[in-house]
Amino acid sequence: MTENQNKHAIVFGCTGINGWALVNQLLCGYPAIGAFGKVTAISNRPFNLDDTKWPYEDGKNGLQVISGIDLLVEDIVSLQAILSERVPSVETVSHIYFAAYRESQDDPEECRMNKQMLDVSVQTIEKLSSCLQFVTLITGTKIGVAPFGNANCIAQSTGIFLSFYREIEGPGARVPFIGSEAGWTLLSTDSNQDIIAQLCIFASLQPKDKVHGQTFNIGDNSVPLSWSTRWPLLAAYFGLEGTGPSKDSVTPAQYIDRHWTEFQTLCRERGLREDVIYRSIRNTGSKGKTTVMDFDRHLDLGRARALGFNKELSTEDSWYMAFDRLRNAKLLF
Ligand SMILES: NC(=O)c1ccc[n+]([C@@H]2O[C@H](COP(=O)([O-])OP(=O)(O)OC[C@H]3O[C@@H](n4cnc5c(N)ncnc54)[C@H](OP(=O)(O)O)[C@@H]3O)[C@@H](O)[C@H]2O)c1
Repeated sequence: MTENQNKHAIVFGCTGINGWALVNQLLCGYPAIGAFGKVTAISNRPFNLDDTKWPYEDGKNGLQVISGIDLLVEDIVSLQAILSERVPSVETVSHIYFAAYRESQDDPEECRMNKQMLDVSVQTIEKLSSCLQFVTLITGTKIGVAPFGNANCIAQSTGIFLSFYREIEGPGARVPFIGSEAGWTLLSTDSNQDIIAQLCIFASLQPKDKVHGQTFNIGDNSVPLSWSTRWPLLAAYFGLEGTGPSKDSVTPAQYIDRHWTEFQTLCRERGLREDVIYRSIRNTGSKGKTTVMDFDRHLDLGRARALGFNKELSTEDSWYMAFDRLRNAKLLF
């Protein structure tokens, strides 16, 4: 057995934006085909594997999916019993990618739950596998797709809105920016789910002295951009003309509420996944409203570059890839 075949990745939260992308990149063979011998994807709620569009081949690329694992447990003893019974070869897990996340409107409660999930997950694998080498924790900003819906997925809610807007208003229609005047000009960095997943995997394969205990920012590009540049590009994907904020600006949820009957009819006529679309557009969580934040928030990518991670994505490539995935998953009109 080669050193790579011995590598066993476990991804907690595999159905979320980051977890989905991590499993996808690992199965696609990033950074090299066969870099990991086994990939274990852990999910809370059960899901249909076909809906993930992961490139698995009847287990040939080492994927094993374990569903129904609730990480919000008080102690590691019960999780240890469950994972040792249900995860084949758990004793060989070498790399943890922690991407589970539970949102709450109550900040202290959100901290408590997420700390608890992280603690029990890492401590349980530490107990069960003497091969554990690396733990990766992801936080914060990202764009991408969660195939089963996500409260804070801006690509999903924006893509659904723009595709529906085109259906109602027609090709070439002007679509005012959905955020504020301040948000239109402030600078931010996009972080595509693929680039986040790639940095996580890349960093986890570096010598310990370069990455142990370190934090890294990652984004699509070291040059930040404003919504005045981004919005017209996003609208253009749908054949619309993206314009600045105006008195006619509406949020995606407001717009869909206004056209609720057409929304339901179109979903049914086209066989779209109405439940996921509904969740994506309505549940935009209080913390994910990137378009209404009123301060610059661009990221310094210096540490990732110093580590040797130089991958970049253009705004079009980053967002259009997310929109293509949504279309492929039957989540766009
Ligand atoms: N700093 C921040 O403000 C911030 C904000 C968002 C995310 N993050 C970090 O980013 C990472 C993932 O974010 P994301 O946007 O990819 O999240 P996401 O799309 O909401 O996905 C979260 C994942 O966690 C799973 N999960 C939730 N509760 C669970 C539980 N009790 N037991 C097991 N799994 C559970 C979900 O599965 P179910 O849907 O089946 O429950 C889902 O797969 C996390 O590491 C998180 O800490 C940080």
